[in-house]
Amino acid sequence: MNDFSMPELIGRKRDGGTLTPAELRWIVEGYTTDTIPDYQMAAFLMAVVCRGMDDDELAAWTEAMLHSGTVLDLRAVAGPKVDKHSTGGVGDKISIPLAPLVAACGVRVPMMSGRGLGHTGGTLDKLESIPGFSTEVAPEDFADQLADLGLVLAGQSEELVPADRKIYALRDATGTVPSIPLIASSIMSKKLAEDLDGLVLDVKVGSGAFMKDLEDARRLAETMAGIGRRHGTEVVALLTDMDQPLGREVGNANEIRESLDVLRGVGPPDVTALVLRLAEEMLLLGGVAADRDAARKRLELAIEDGTGLEVLRRVIARQGGNPDVVDDPALLPTADRFHVVRAEESGYVTACDAERVGWAAVRLGAGRARKEDEIDPAVGITIEAKRGDRIAAGDPLAVVAWNDPTRRDACLEMLAGAWRISATPPEPRPLFLGEVR
Ligand code: URA
Repeated sequence: MNDFSMPELIGRKRDGGTLTPAELRWIVEGYTTDTIPDYQMAAFLMAVVCRGMDDDELAAWTEAMLHSGTVLDLRAVAGPKVDKHSTGGVGDKISIPLAPLVAACGVRVPMMSGRGLGHTGGTLDKLESIPGFSTEVAPEDFADQLADLGLVLAGQSEELVPADRKIYALRDATGTVPSIPLIASSIMSKKLAEDLDGLVLDVKVGSGAFMKDLEDARRLAETMAGIGRRHGTEVVALLTDMDQPLGREVGNANEIRESLDVLRGVGPPDVTALVLRLAEEMLLLGGVAADRDAARKRLELAIEDGTGLEVLRRVIARQGGNPDVVDDPALLPTADRFHVVRAEESGYVTACDAERVGWAAVRLGAGRARKEDEIDPAVGITIEAKRGDRIAAGDPLAVVAWNDPTRRDACLEMLAGAWRISATPPEPRPLFLGEVR
């Protein structure tokens, strides 16, 4: 391997220069194998935050991250493989109903999800509220399960993209997370390591999202789609609203209950609309539907005839969970103490701040304030009033299901002020804000 000088490469990036693919590979390999120290990598990452990366640099950096560990080889699994990634939000349980529905329609979904980050919830944490369910699937079982059931709902193994694990932890501690090239390469290296034919991205925009503004979200979507194209994987990105929580439930077990409602055809309208729209894109990328109408009909049938629920039932059983929760959600953990948050005035709800609700859920114990914290799967927040609703003073805004009074009080303090109420109704804010292909 070439030996470059880290101070020279840091200086070049700091001054707005570009690095070659060999230099970028050397940095990723050197940091992953501990020959480049944290302080030099932190300085380099800060230079990237300030100066960015051009398309060639970004492609080389992402490929180096992707090949820093094992890459899944799913060639032996017949059929198209398509996954979905969300940039994260509050009440964002979309993957849980989406993946079984898409698998029921003939697309293989090798889904690797993450844990909650900051105020946003994580699919793995929600799935683990199902008694017995394990999100650790051994690499030797992964392809078999995907071939048998069409779906794996797992966490990322230690061997997959180890460079990102190390670089992300350093970014978190050095103020170098908010950079479009660093975020895009981090997400895409992990998704491309799944050996996909296609990827659908749900890029969230609004108070509860990492991208607060539409232009930044669009640039992130374009950057990720560009990385996919260079790699030879088709990517479609939807820009969707995250100014208020998705659906009614924010937490873990309560979000599984709401996901089951979607699979039964009785889910909340926003969650159902988003699941169906993302699923349509996955069916089209997988080539199992001739057009959007055909994809929609196929998905509606998988809800009506219960095949989506059946895929989930089998995946839960295969991954060690109790499949009876699908028919009897009362088997999921529940808290039996409740506090109703009530409106102090009458009017229209003009905002239900997703970020505040997300932090309130963390305080309640539904998320982690520190990496090592344990989640309480039974607690959660049910949103009773959303943007556009007309309410009277005293009406419920939310119901908090709690287990620990100190946590309940901390949650209520954060929830106070999450709603804005006005005499006039708000301008409608669409769920779908744009797309990038
Ligand atoms: N999620 C990731 O996986 N990486 C980032 O850099 C930010 C969010």
